[in-house]
Amino acid sequence: MRLLVTGGAGFIGSHFVRYLLDRYPDYRIINLDKLTYAGNRENLRDVARHPRHRFIKGDICNRPLVARLSRQVDAIVNFAADTHVDRSITRPASFLQTDVIGAGVLLDAARRCGHGRYLQISTDEVYGSIEQGYADEAAPLRPGNPYSASKAGADLLVLAYGRTYGLPVLISRCSNNYGPYQYPEKLIPLCITNGLEGLPLPLYGDGQYRRDWIHVSDHCRAVDLVLHHGIPGSVYNVGGGHELPNVDVVHRIAAALNLPASAIQFVADRPGHDRRYAVKDEKLRALGYRPVTSFDEGLAETIRWYQAHRGWWKKIRAGAFRRYYRQRYHTSRAGKGAVSGFKPQVPATHSRTEKSR
Ligand code: NAD
Ligand code: TYD
Repeated sequence: MRLLVTGGAGFIGSHFVRYLLDRYPDYRIINLDKLTYAGNRENLRDVARHPRHRFIKGDICNRPLVARLSRQVDAIVNFAADTHVDRSITRPASFLQTDVIGAGVLLDAARRCGHGRYLQISTDEVYGSIEQGYADEAAPLRPGNPYSASKAGADLLVLAYGRTYGLPVLISRCSNNYGPYQYPEKLIPLCITNGLEGLPLPLYGDGQYRRDWIHVSDHCRAVDLVLHHGIPGSVYNVGGGHELPNVDVVHRIAAALNLPASAIQFVADRPGHDRRYAVKDEKLRALGYRPVTSFDEGLAETIRWYQAHRGWWKKIRAGAFRRYYRQRYHTSRAGKGAVSGFKPQVPATHSRTEKSR
């Protein structure tokens, strides 16, 4: 099989590329990635010269490029996206562009080529906050922020292309991933790398927001199953089976790094913060899926990886990330010391009234 994997220089995509090359000795992969701030060729260093892996720097919104590459493959797996909820709150436009329009460009190309499969890598966040119980694949989409709304928009487009054009589409909706090579803006790698640099571990709001954690290697096996055994036109939820409040996750990281509880700092909350994500994944389990990495084991291994790969994340944190971190967490210029989280949201009318007084 010849596959176009997009976003393969990011966190999950790079694991999936490596997984495919190991698992399927006859697969050839074209890896299309724009190398945004989150994409990193170093994530693929061990497979950079692999004879069955070809890396192309490019944008999934580039129609001629996508059309040309699509003609060279049998199927597409789309990981490419803007992925960080906090960034989607301050700069939503590129999320709409890549996550929705980009998916549309890939779908058009797949349709023209008569591809065997198009797999959209989506997220459990499209269901919005699930205060109680679990969302199955038929649950309504109620995204709560520009990232999840863009991903939900793409999911609807994917299903519409399946229905209208008979394109054999599939969608996987996974819970929160963690593991090596995750860009240090997301909760787990941010807290690990902050802890290793002697900075506070920032916890939004009351810390009681809940996420279901999955090790990236379990996600890769799930994507493999959906790609090869999913029924075209179907959606598959992927859960990790490790639901925890954020405060527990951060306490575990602090403990593993021998940091006192005072290293954890409660900061201003994310606007529109979804309280809980939780999915039912029986459909995928019927295909043989079981997550095998326990959270304790996976977290310990992930922490060891960040301890052993300081060069990888220090380079990231020394670059544009530094400005992002300062603005996002309102620290001093040196980026040291106390953090305060999101700026309070002052409605425009209110601020005008204040000024006119
Ligand atoms: P990431 O931010 O680490 O990587 C995204 C990759 O996409 C980067 O390499 C980036 O350069 C590339 N990219 C961005 N815009 C592009 C464009 N226009 N054209 C080509 N490439 C582009 O993200 P991730 O955490 O690896 O997530 C990968 C996918 O999995 C995303 O679609 C995301 O929505 C989904 N997902 C992520 C999680 C999670 O917890 N991280 C959970 C469920 C689903
Ligand atoms: P994140 O890793 O950004 O993933 P997502 O928002 O896609 O679930 O955040 C995971 C949880 O951790 C979420 O409830 C927000 C919270 N969080 C913090 O408490 N502090 C932080 O500094 C970050 C980045 C996230």
